[in-house]
Amino acid sequence: MPVTVADLAAWKQRRERFVMLTAYDALTARVLDEAGIPLLLVGDSVGNNVLGYDSTIPVSMRESRIFTAAVARGARNAMVVGDLPFGSYQASAAEALRNATRLVKVGANAVKLEGGRRSAKAVRRMVEAGIPVMGHLGFTPQSANAFGRKVVQGRGEQGDELLADALALQEAGSFSIVLEAIPAELGARITDALEIATIGIGAGPGTDGQVLVITDLLGLTPDPTPRFVKRYADLRATIAEAANRFAKDVAEGHYPAPEHQYH
Ligand code: KIV
Repeated sequence: MPVTVADLAAWKQRRERFVMLTAYDALTARVLDEAGIPLLLVGDSVGNNVLGYDSTIPVSMRESRIFTAAVARGARNAMVVGDLPFGSYQASAAEALRNATRLVKVGANAVKLEGGRRSAKAVRRMVEAGIPVMGHLGFTPQSANAFGRKVVQGRGEQGDELLADALALQEAGSFSIVLEAIPAELGARITDALEIATIGIGAGPGTDGQVLVITDLLGLTPDPTPRFVKRYADLRATIAEAANRFAKDVAEGHYPAPEHQYH
């Protein structure tokens, strides 16, 4: 059965932990969907992980739509969350709605955007139009230029500001909030204060759900990775080994073998 916002509300109530993973293509989306991953985020991290940009900032609406559509074509039951890229929602609530609508039209079941109180008006507008909205607080990569080298957000009194942002997003109608790179105690504090689900990435074990970037989880991203990354596979080594075996087979005349040939 397709995952909906009602499922997240139920998991929150039952204190049932859940996961989200990023996905950028139809094949991976199908694998993750069939593995039972309930939420697939077509993150603007597609910029760093697929398109070769240095950050998420260059990602365009056109690119976001292409990758969201691909993931939506691969997913059956998972909720597909499309990411609103930098510059697509900040100017006005009307523009945010217009761009969110474009993601929904290509198959997103929900959209994500960064920022708390500053994004609340846009969130309300999209929610009123029937689009489920996921917030994103803490280290928000689209603001990397403003953060400088400081990754961990919300230490000290800044924690109260982040809590106020989270409450504003809830009040505006968000159904969930990603919390990125904040102290574990703050992750738990915000989670306990909210009725909607939180999804942590570097926010400690106290959030309702956890999200990882698929290329980090699979061990495709080169070192150094952030402290919160746990690798569950070593695909860099697996891919390199497979490619080298192919090259060796060809060099030694073992490939193509008779069973690979047409007659
Ligand atoms: O774009 C992305 O992958 C994200 C996750 C880090 C939550 O926003």
